Amino acid sequence: MINVYNELGYSCSVTLRIAYEHMVFDDQVHQSAARFPGLAERAFVISSFGKTYHVTGWKVGYVAAPAALMAEFRKVHQFNVFTVNTPVQYALAHYMADPAPYLGLSDFYQQKRDLFRAGLANTRFKLLPCEGTYFQSVDTSAINDLPEADFCKWLTSEVGVAAIPLSAFYGNGFDQQVVRFCFAKKTETLELALQKLQAI
Ligand SMILES: Cc1ncc(COP(=O)(O)O)c(C=O)c1O
Repeated sequence: MINVYNELGYSCSVTLRIAYEHMVFDDQVHQSAARFPGLAERAFVISSFGKTYHVTGWKVGYVAAPAALMAEFRKVHQFNVFTVNTPVQYALAHYMADPAPYLGLSDFYQQKRDLFRAGLANTRFKLLPCEGTYFQSVDTSAINDLPEADFCKWLTSEVGVAAIPLSAFYGNGFDQQVVRFCFAKKTETLELALQKLQAI
């Protein structure tokens, strides 16, 4: 959360980084600024349709806020984004009519997470905690001494499974021998990957 001051002259809480908001594991409950009246009246809820509706390539998000705040937001939006193409807006509106996809998203991904974590449990990959995401980070230091990027190249070319080095997200290349797998995959793809990873 950060605070900004709008043209109406008062502070607004702005919710950021909630693209994964509907992935809530282990019986935790999704919380939104919109659920709390005192907060909702001074909050912009900003999110993406990408992760919730499996359309990451569409690059479409949304902002929800009380009318007075949206009037200010639209002044910026008009000269920044202008609009999202019409067919995609209709497609999302059509899909949103059924709440089942977003209400079932946590179970959908928790099954994949649990399958993937169980498959790696008896390997030398050390599992880091995994909540509210479809990425599983693992410590690779018990496997070899390779830096993260080299480990990922080796894993991709020699083992046949792709991972992302966390060092890529640091400006200074900070390396702690931790890499990230994406488990937003079909069950058969995960099982095939696990067979290869278990053989290491
Ligand atoms: C935290 C976070 N926010 C936003 C995005 C991107 O959202 P969009 O596809 O709407 O650009 C991503 C992933 O790509 C993400 O991990």
